[in-house]
Amino acid sequence: MKSRIPGFYKLSAEERLKLVGEEAELSDEETERLGGTGLTVEQADRMIENVIGTIEVPLGVATNFLINGVDRLVPMATEEPSVVAASSNAARLARRLGGFTVEVSEPVMIGQIQVCNISDAGAAKKAVLEHKSEIIRVANEQDPVLVKFGGGAKDIEARVIDTLQGEMLIVHLLVDCRDAMGANAVNTMAEAAAPMIEELTGGRVFLRIISNLAVHRTARAEAIFSKDDIGPDAVEGVLNAYAFAASDPYRCATHNKGIMNGVSAVVLATGNDTRAIEAGAHTFAAYPEGYKPLTRYWKNDVGDLVGAIELPVAVGLIGGATAVHPVAKACVKILGVKTASELGGILAAVGLAQNFAALYALSTEGIQRGHMRLHARNIAVMAGAPTELVDKVAQQLADEKKVRLDRAREILEELRKD
Ligand code: MEV
Repeated sequence: MKSRIPGFYKLSAEERLKLVGEEAELSDEETERLGGTGLTVEQADRMIENVIGTIEVPLGVATNFLINGVDRLVPMATEEPSVVAASSNAARLARRLGGFTVEVSEPVMIGQIQVCNISDAGAAKKAVLEHKSEIIRVANEQDPVLVKFGGGAKDIEARVIDTLQGEMLIVHLLVDCRDAMGANAVNTMAEAAAPMIEELTGGRVFLRIISNLAVHRTARAEAIFSKDDIGPDAVEGVLNAYAFAASDPYRCATHNKGIMNGVSAVVLATGNDTRAIEAGAHTFAAYPEGYKPLTRYWKNDVGDLVGAIELPVAVGLIGGATAVHPVAKACVKILGVKTASELGGILAAVGLAQNFAALYALSTEGIQRGHMRLHARNIAVMAGAPTELVDKVAQQLADEKKVRLDRAREILEELRKD
């Protein structure tokens, strides 16, 4: 597959779909689903409760991504203008010096078991740790298929914490989820292990649930942006922007939000749980203490800008909406990933690309010019401009720096008179 497609953005949506379909070898049915009704109401009715319909979100494809030497077209589902363009531009700059290098840890999630009413927390913790293998055996009996594929419960951790309700023992079941996001497997295992843990500790178990702070399941990405491409001023600008976020939580929230613009768009496109990823990313940013940027930047020996990111990547390819939503399935095919870890690596690369693009724009010309161009098109459409007049109206709105609905209506009126 090739991901460097100059002029991709200038094509019609239909032409882009045809091109992506050929690159990803999509079937006619998959192409039809992408370009038409993605999810039928009947399918939606089997996914959640009280269904009355579906809501469409634009699906774009970011180009130029080179990740560990492999070209990837990246589907992104988002309502926000500029996100897909920003990612594609950053990926184009990154690929000139080799693209993104990514590393992904084993897909290990944490199941938490909360033990309350314990008289001797130290002894309870010791008892749990001494019976690790029995607890792991009970957990693994719940999911022989996962175990067969090399996954399953692998280890136990135990911590005593002080809470408003007194001391608690928190037992962590570490579960290798392979290509599943893992919430179902982990929650089932945590529930199954609970009675044994109560017996061992003499305490009472309350919560048995996965943790979204997936510190054992992270992806890292790194990329170099040449100073000759972006200019020395932009190198300083991005370093200053990073330093700002690292020292100021108000800025850091927006810095990390920008990262998630890219990450969540891919998570959504692949039918994964956006809230799990968002919760994990922001908590990881504050872990072990103090809310920090998920990315880092520095200058290398020759003065080029190096960017890096690490974030939890609790995503799956089997189970959940990924396995049943026809558009999500097609998106996984476009990405060409075979494992959840590969998808995790792509999320890290996209997060870094998105963040670099934002900081580059913010520290140079600002983001409003680009935003306004796209916003102006939306306003033109809202004003009722027919397809052949949308660009004309938008252009005039942008030139006049009055991107407003009332002005769009006036311009349209004038154009119609002409
Ligand atoms: C907007 O959705 C995202 C940005 O605000 C991110 C950032 O400020 O880094 C542009």
